[in-house]
Amino acid sequence: MRLGPYTLSSNLFLSPLAGYTNLPMRLTVRELGGLGWATTDLVNARSLLERSAGAMRLVTTCAEDRPMAIQLFGSVPEEMRDAAVMCEALGVQAVDINMGCPVKKVVSIGGGSAMMTALDKTAALVRGMIAAVKIPVTAKMRLGWDDANLTAPDLARVLEDAGVAAVFVHGRTRAQGFSGRVNLAGIRAVVQAVKTIPVIGNGDITTPEAARHMINETGCAGVSVGRGAFYDPWIFRRTEIFLRTGGLTPEPDLTERVRVLRRHFDRYLEFYGEENGARQFRRVAPWYAKRFGPARVFKQAVTRITSRADFESALAEFASWRAQFCDGHGQLLEKFQPEKMEASFMREDDGSGTAEREGIRVPKGPVEVW
Ligand SMILES: Cc1cc2nc3c(=O)[nH]c(=O)nc-3n(C[C@H](O)[C@H](O)[C@H](O)COP(=O)(O)O)c2cc1C
Repeated sequence: MRLGPYTLSSNLFLSPLAGYTNLPMRLTVRELGGLGWATTDLVNARSLLERSAGAMRLVTTCAEDRPMAIQLFGSVPEEMRDAAVMCEALGVQAVDINMGCPVKKVVSIGGGSAMMTALDKTAALVRGMIAAVKIPVTAKMRLGWDDANLTAPDLARVLEDAGVAAVFVHGRTRAQGFSGRVNLAGIRAVVQAVKTIPVIGNGDITTPEAARHMINETGCAGVSVGRGAFYDPWIFRRTEIFLRTGGLTPEPDLTERVRVLRRHFDRYLEFYGEENGARQFRRVAPWYAKRFGPARVFKQAVTRITSRADFESALAEFASWRAQFCDGHGQLLEKFQPEKMEASFMREDDGSGTAEREGIRVPKGPVEVW
């Protein structure tokens, strides 16, 4: 697919996940293949202009981390414009504007999902950014503030007229948080509202089949995966192959899961330093472990790591403890196999037209309402 002047290697996107989609995660996912585009965590435009250490770390990138967009949030037009100029100078491929975040500290300054409620003001801000840079500007939104205010189609139309190169839409309202199902009809309404720009659908995609279902049901040009990539950084490669050939490649085995976990961990240490990196990785490792089968011992040990040695001993302890659940060849006995899909997946039922979905977990903390 195309996005602005770029031809992407796939129509699969990594959704911004504050606290997770840092350079180590982006590189780890990219290396596995299938990913067409990645975006940073949201970055406060003012903090970026002030070159705060936190903001500068969020926008840190490298040659292998391409194509890449920086996601900005803010509501002061001049700041958003100047921050976009700074992003361009940093050499990234695009700037994305956060219009979906429902977290109070973002909304209270008129950013995030508050932008969906003031279309004229938002359009003026976006026009100012677009006029100031050559790289494409994109926008990420929810369906609207609440069920009574499904503004996404109108907003997308206004933004297209203002010149945005693509729109990302999470198929829930701000009021919904992460509850209920993703509203595919809502995403379809956004697809139908725009004339030519690509709309990228988002929400609850944890399998290749769910990606295809969203594309078929909504007509979106591509899909963006957030939490699904926590459990399963291989989802992009498997989905890319599935969309292209219809074939489902096998899920990675434990050896592969541990190999990639280690790559991700190594990059954390390189990026944040040994102790800080190990501490920060405490919240990443348990997501991988959800697909390990029985993993209590690993999950407990990894919440205490402060060094590479701690991490390796957590893995070693896990390997010897796990043996009790395995046959003579080191394979998990049938009854201990991780549930095929612990996260959500689409089960289309037999022709009634409805689809059932299990919930995907949301990490604990202030982002519960993202
Ligand atoms: C922990 C967490 C952090 C998030 N951070 C951001 C963010 O920085 N910017 C943003 O636009 N959306 C953010 N989101 C929303 C996701 O990008 C995505 O729209 C949402 O999770 C739905 O997609 P999913 O079901 O594939 O996860 C965040 C979501 C979660 C769970």
